[in-house]
Amino acid sequence: MNVGVPKEIKTHEYRVGLTPGAVREYVAAGHKVVVETNAGAGIGATDENYRRAGATILDSAHEVFASSEMIVKVKEPQPSEWTLLRENQILFTYLHLAPDPEQAKGLIKSGCTAIAYETVTDVRGGLPLLAPMSEVAGRLAIEAAGAALKRYTGGRGLLIGGVPGVQPARIVVIGGGVVGTHAARMAVGLGAEVTILDRSISRLRELDELFEGRVRTRFSTIDAVEEEVFAADVVIGAVLVPGASAPRLVGRGMLTSMRKGSVIVDVAIDQGGCFETSRPTTHADPTYDVDGVIHYCVANMPGAVPLTSSQALNNATLPFGLALAKRGFSAVLENPHLRAGLNVHRGRLTYRAVAESLGLPFSPIEQAAA
Ligand SMILES: NC(=O)c1ccc[n+]([C@@H]2O[C@H](COP(=O)([O-])OP(=O)(O)OC[C@H]3O[C@@H](n4cnc5c(N)ncnc54)[C@H](O)[C@@H]3O)[C@@H](O)[C@H]2O)c1
Repeated sequence: MNVGVPKEIKTHEYRVGLTPGAVREYVAAGHKVVVETNAGAGIGATDENYRRAGATILDSAHEVFASSEMIVKVKEPQPSEWTLLRENQILFTYLHLAPDPEQAKGLIKSGCTAIAYETVTDVRGGLPLLAPMSEVAGRLAIEAAGAALKRYTGGRGLLIGGVPGVQPARIVVIGGGVVGTHAARMAVGLGAEVTILDRSISRLRELDELFEGRVRTRFSTIDAVEEEVFAADVVIGAVLVPGASAPRLVGRGMLTSMRKGSVIVDVAIDQGGCFETSRPTTHADPTYDVDGVIHYCVANMPGAVPLTSSQALNNATLPFGLALAKRGFSAVLENPHLRAGLNVHRGRLTYRAVAESLGLPFSPIEQAAA
């Protein structure tokens, strides 16, 4: 198959759909890959790196779209890209269509077959193409907290790990899923005192075993959240209720009982956030202060480390991308996990939750493919 990788054009997006290493895998499997010039600049990959991996470099997105049967990207296509897509062309990328009716209409009009990273599933019912970004965000959350705790940024002036004879930071992680586990891992590694709260007892059991007693686990009730948040130096918001906005677990009134200069990192901000006082921020201006509590609420945390994020994303997308390159749309029909990723096919919305939230008609895959 002819596979194309355009340069990402969304503001401040530095990741790339295929790294040179991934290109090499596609080429080794017998596919032809074209890459837009400078597509890898954000991760330090030159056109020459791509050429050596076996890709052909093209000058414009227009040429890449025109010569490819499948487009592999990172972010949802922007308006100028909707018109470059065509019928029967496969688009494999993050889409997040539910809150984006204009993009949905653009993809429907193009006639393309759009498979969304965020709805591809795995054998355990997980979301394997979202997980790597949660791993990155979870680990980054502790780095962000460490920076915000510094006195000159308004924090308590506390070193996360303390030193011998001095108490380390007390870090409370609400939500012990992928983000929470990776945040806890970093925090434990730095020597912090870590507590994880979750609503799932079985998850708390797993975490208890995983960390071999190095973290405290607590069932997440209103009482437990209050007690832990009031005593914390850092609170990481890492909850997810699938298909719903993040639950508001910490109200504004609670901030006055928190320590001055303590830090909230609301990773769940992309789902609305789990603190009443959270509002999305950017890497350029990541924090703000409410009642003496520093808030870090960057909605696209993995964007800060595009090299790590692109590699982690490529590791996860590679087997699915190779299956699509080998079998085309048949791979979607044959593989239930790719099938779960299909959002748009030949002018129809094939993902029920997306269609419902947009108030547009839903078509089962068989109907759309007929
Ligand atoms: N800001 C960013 O850049 C960024 C990047 C990646 C992920 N995220 C977001 O981080 C959040 C967490 O993602 P994840 O991959 O870890 O999800 P996950 O499904 O792996 O984990 C979520 C956990 O929250 C727990 N939970 C649900 N309700 C709870 C409650 N009331 N109290 C305590 N725990 C509760 C669940 O039991 C689960 O263990 C999501 O909102 C995700 O979109 C943000």
